Amino acid sequence: MSSKKPNITEVVLRDGQQSLIATRMKTEDMLPVLSKLDKVGYSSLEVWGGATYDCCLRFLNENPWDRLKIFKKKFKKTQLQMLLRGKNLVGYKEYDNSVIELFIKNAAKEGINIFRIFDALNDINNIKSSIEFVNNEKENSQGTICYTTSPVHNQKYWIKLAKDIEDIGAKSLAIKDMAGLLRPNVGYELIKKLKKNLKIPIHLHTHSTTGLADATNLKAYEAGVDNIDTSISSFSNLYAHTATESFISMIYKDEENPYDMNLLTNIAEHFQSIRPKYVQYEGSMRGVDINMLLYQVPGGMLSILEKQLVDLNKQHRLKDLIDEIPRIREDVGFVPLVTPSSQIVGAQALMNVLDGERYKTLNKEFIDLVNGKYGKIPGKLNSKLLKKIDKNVPDNESETMTISEYRKDFSSFCKSNNIKDFSKKDTDLLNYILFNKESKDFYLSTNKNTYNDIVGLQEGFGLYIE
Ligand code: CO
Repeated sequence: MSSKKPNITEVVLRDGQQSLIATRMKTEDMLPVLSKLDKVGYSSLEVWGGATYDCCLRFLNENPWDRLKIFKKKFKKTQLQMLLRGKNLVGYKEYDNSVIELFIKNAAKEGINIFRIFDALNDINNIKSSIEFVNNEKENSQGTICYTTSPVHNQKYWIKLAKDIEDIGAKSLAIKDMAGLLRPNVGYELIKKLKKNLKIPIHLHTHSTTGLADATNLKAYEAGVDNIDTSISSFSNLYAHTATESFISMIYKDEENPYDMNLLTNIAEHFQSIRPKYVQYEGSMRGVDINMLLYQVPGGMLSILEKQLVDLNKQHRLKDLIDEIPRIREDVGFVPLVTPSSQIVGAQALMNVLDGERYKTLNKEFIDLVNGKYGKIPGKLNSKLLKKIDKNVPDNESETMTISEYRKDFSSFCKSNNIKDFSKKDTDLLNYILFNKESKDFYLSTNKNTYNDIVGLQEGFGLYIE
């Protein structure tokens, strides 16, 4: 058993609140504890990512860069970490290298030290450029394995992928188990092998959804993992993560515990006090959801699909839908279910079930997935499905604008709406490039204090499984 204690990353400000209250936490509810969080001694605080960026603009009427500025000011000793969706950055489509570079430069400048970079299909071609740009900024490029189970995803596959990630220059590696699939003993073996084969530090990120996380994190510690992700107790478990205080108590005896448990209790009490404000965004899960272990459907994804069926008065088709998802996943070469593949597979499954015929209606995103537009498929594609896709004209539209064209476009938008020209500032320009419609609304209403409360993301397939 390892005696070296792993470092701890606190995720409450990003994934904790994303998993439990649909990423709706406002900056004003974070402010009172930021200095306290900085004192804990975490190796890093995960504070930013696709969903937080999106929700700031879409729902909270906040500029995500302003939130980051506050973090940078308040966190004097703790490193700041973000989650990056490879070439999709914080959005849903692939961006040109010039946009990726501009984004990473600015994120690094505004305070991000660790960039956890993932690709839904584990295609390293989709994370390579981001890793290089982060390295150019002399920050920590963390390559990621999106963990899943399937006939093609064996230990050999993971070790090779991890080695490849190290070889393209990542400074650390994360095992990202967004669906809580990693079983304790499997995790132990995987981390042992990774520690033997890789030189870079290994981080583990797992979710409590299936009830395995506490045991998996403990076994990961025994295997010598370098860093564990946890969320403060009042924002832990269910769809989220092992509680920070619990994990500390697992690995330290009271007399040797370097963490100030009173300080942690204080922080937990703050988040406990603000949580009721967001009750409308809480999921329906009450204990553990084993659907993922049984059907390989993430719990959060299932509850959204269930709601869609209820809205359509088709709730009796739920079992068909649950059965359809793993079948589609097999047809498309066992892609991991994580943003955006989780949305794409979920939407196609719903179509297949509602049509009463498989692949009668094909979503554009699904065709793109099969055609490799999102990256290399891990396993084999179903040949019958490929024939169906062939009949659909592949979509070759790709409007790539240069940065200066984007800037011009944004500038004329500001002018024609009689608002200040925001296009000069890179961070505002990035908002405009990455979330065009949401940014237009945001910049037109910067003085508006009310925010859109519609539970849009939770209702659509904007469901984030990260
Ligand atoms: Co996560």
